[in-house]
Amino acid sequence: ENLKAIAADLLQWYTINKRTLPWRENNAPYSVWLSEIILQQTRINQGLSYYLRFLEKYPTITHFANASEDDILKLWQGLGYYSRARNMHHTAQNIVNQHHENFPKNYSELLKFKGVGEYTAAAIASISFNLPHAVVDGNVYRVLSRLFAISTPIDTTEGKKTFKELANQLIDKDYPGDYNQAIMEFGALQCTPRNPDCDSCPFRNRCVARQTNLVDQFPVKVGK
Ligand code: ADE
Repeated sequence: ENLKAIAADLLQWYTINKRTLPWRENNAPYSVWLSEIILQQTRINQGLSYYLRFLEKYPTITHFANASEDDILKLWQGLGYYSRARNMHHTAQNIVNQHHENFPKNYSELLKFKGVGEYTAAAIASISFNLPHAVVDGNVYRVLSRLFAISTPIDTTEGKKTFKELANQLIDKDYPGDYNQAIMEFGALQCTPRNPDCDSCPFRNRCVARQTNLVDQFPVKVGK
């Protein structure tokens, strides 16, 4: 049906267009966790060198847990939002001491860790463990709101619920990690906030926002 075709087209687009990025070479939960926490509030270009430096200095979660908080914060210097680094240190120690150095292979267990919200739990569950949990970030809101012309504001409880449900219906159950990265990459490169390249878009004939010339009206926000 319709949703399956969209997921398949996103995956195909991703195969052709994805950028080569170091965290795409390593699906281990420790490195996925590290990259996704960094990328939540930091641009890829800036986050890249931090990601590589952290993995070089702390190649495993045990190295990370055994570091001093001062050393972690020093390496984090420049990224801002230092609570991210403090929460990671806390969670690394928790995983090493209470979970035998392993991330649990389970979305709701992942959610319990300090600093791991729905986005990060879904990213680790899908990319590292092939579990069908959809990520919902700004890219996902933009792509889905345009494709289906969904006017529910994304900064409301109802909007968050609506998009999360749709994203979880759309996710490819065989390749959940690639699917999640595909829709984020599609939002970052093709379905961009401004001046999206609709003429070359694989969804140009199906995107409801485009058909109605309203691409720049989505996503809808209350607070603006
Ligand atoms: N943005 C943050 N994490 C990402 C990922 N894994 N793939 C694409 N875009 C992202």
